[in-house]
Amino acid sequence: MKVFHRAQDLQRYLSNLRTNNRSVGFVPTMGALHQGHLSLVELSRLKNQVTVVSIFVNPTQFNDAADLEKYPRTPGKDIELLDTVGCEVVFLPTVEEVYPNGLDQKIQALDFGQLEKVMEGAMRPGHFAGVAHVVERLLDLTRPDRLYMGQKDYQQVAIIRSMIAQREIDVKLVVGPTVREVDGLAMSSRNVRLNENLRDRAAELSRVLSDAKSAILAGGLPPEVAARSSDLLAALPGFKVEYFEVFDGDSLQPVSEAKAESIVIALAVWVGDVRLIDNVIVR
Ligand code: PAJ
Repeated sequence: MKVFHRAQDLQRYLSNLRTNNRSVGFVPTMGALHQGHLSLVELSRLKNQVTVVSIFVNPTQFNDAADLEKYPRTPGKDIELLDTVGCEVVFLPTVEEVYPNGLDQKIQALDFGQLEKVMEGAMRPGHFAGVAHVVERLLDLTRPDRLYMGQKDYQQVAIIRSMIAQREIDVKLVVGPTVREVDGLAMSSRNVRLNENLRDRAAELSRVLSDAKSAILAGGLPPEVAARSSDLLAALPGFKVEYFEVFDGDSLQPVSEAKAESIVIALAVWVGDVRLIDNVIVR
């Protein structure tokens, strides 16, 4: 497995591979890797001769300095894990390498319309501009055939799909299913920050999501199901609900009918001082 810290070295290595007609799969991450990330590497390895994983805690997508500070960083362990799943290339750049002109450089910002006005976009101003910017930059450096992202971050996938279309980037976006712990908690780099008590209770998030899905499939009205689910979670000690939304899977706009064509349910909940997100596709 090759580990690169400098963009130039990565680019030189990949351009040699490309002249030999190897297809490249790319998995961008912020590290503190778990089975959710590794499942994307495994998906990529099924289709591509070379899989590149980037590990970069992107400062421009954190609207909260404390969150950036507390974000777990475990590069040594990450590299070991990537080796075990047969990843070929790891890119571990510095901030200067990704943003050679500084963090405040003026880029032509994209307009994501309604996609960024709801949920994570509404709660974390500037977050998706930062995500779109760094993924665009990383795609430019790696020029992969396929880009792998997780359904766990449903809205992020919608934003990146829009960015790829607007910038006319020639890459296929592949979305992998959410990998969960045995009790249903969606795997997240942030889970390690939960104390034992809250970690056990955090499984309620996926239980309530799955009950809400059943309720809607049984004809329950989405706004009512959402309100009830949100109340259930808010009543748990240490839980604070930021949003619990039922929305159309393409437009991300609220859905009010149980028989709507496309329905996704998503939540953001503070469990203690850890902000967790999760979602489930109803249909
Ligand atoms: P990060 O949170 O490290 O996630 C990297 C990728 O792993 C994302 O596509 C995410 O959706 C996916 N992922 C996370 N948890 C998962 C799980 N339990 N099951 C399946 N996939 C999972 O998302 C980011 O980093 C950043 O915003 C990034 C795209 C790298 C830009 O900085």
